[in-house]
Amino acid sequence: MRKIYIAGNWKLNFTQSETKSFLEDLKSKVKNLNSNICVLVHPSFTSLSTAQEILKNSNIHFGAQNCSCQDNGAFTGEVSIAMLKETGVSSIIIGHSERREIFKETDENINSKLKAIRKEATLTAIVCCGESEETREQGKTDGWVEKQIEAAFKDIQLDISNIYKVVIAYEPIWAIGTGKTCDSNEANRVIKVIRNKFAKIYSQDLADKISILYGGSVKSSNIEELLKTSDIDGALIGGASLKTEEFAGIIDKSNNLLASTTA
Ligand code: PGA
Repeated sequence: MRKIYIAGNWKLNFTQSETKSFLEDLKSKVKNLNSNICVLVHPSFTSLSTAQEILKNSNIHFGAQNCSCQDNGAFTGEVSIAMLKETGVSSIIIGHSERREIFKETDENINSKLKAIRKEATLTAIVCCGESEETREQGKTDGWVEKQIEAAFKDIQLDISNIYKVVIAYEPIWAIGTGKTCDSNEANRVIKVIRNKFAKIYSQDLADKISILYGGSVKSSNIEELLKTSDIDGALIGGASLKTEEFAGIIDKSNNLLASTTA
């Protein structure tokens, strides 16, 4: 059974003190998690040490929203993987559409970041992909995400020992922050396209093992429908991960669903 990820992407939100009160509240709401669910939050760089302090000895993990592919040097404003590791992160999101569109990150940049993350055996990379509304309207969604996956994983060695340290998130751009969730059957279909592409690059065995998440206007009212599909292994959540009630509700529903399917 593939691991289910419920991952919050906080984007440019929450100071250290806001992080502290949010996580204290969340911690008190999240109890008895199924061992097959991994709950993650991704605060800003400046709040990572706060997350480390609040989340120690808890079943909620945390990660970073971005990283540099460089180890050190003259790269003003960048944060290296070694720096992140010392804050206790367990995951790093790369290739988010906002980084691609607003900060002009290319497929090559994302591939370099994935290579750098893979040098650290303990870190999980969450690799995002997804099409724009225009690409979808042109009927080019499948080819687009296949191309993104091929580029992100170029020359990345994966096998049974490290497959669990890579997660893919399919996030159609038109569904992000818009309230327009992709229909669960359609999200599942595209995720199968991604899984098949992954099988072609690596093997069916690794493709069957990698967790592929859906992201784009996920809330407590639609998480169950998404998770009931054959290939959606969790969610990357923006807006709804900033409200404790809502995020805890998503976690709770995922947990209950898993308990009912594994019972
Ligand atoms: P959203 O964002 O849940 O607010 O649509 C998702 C994301 O950008 O990861």
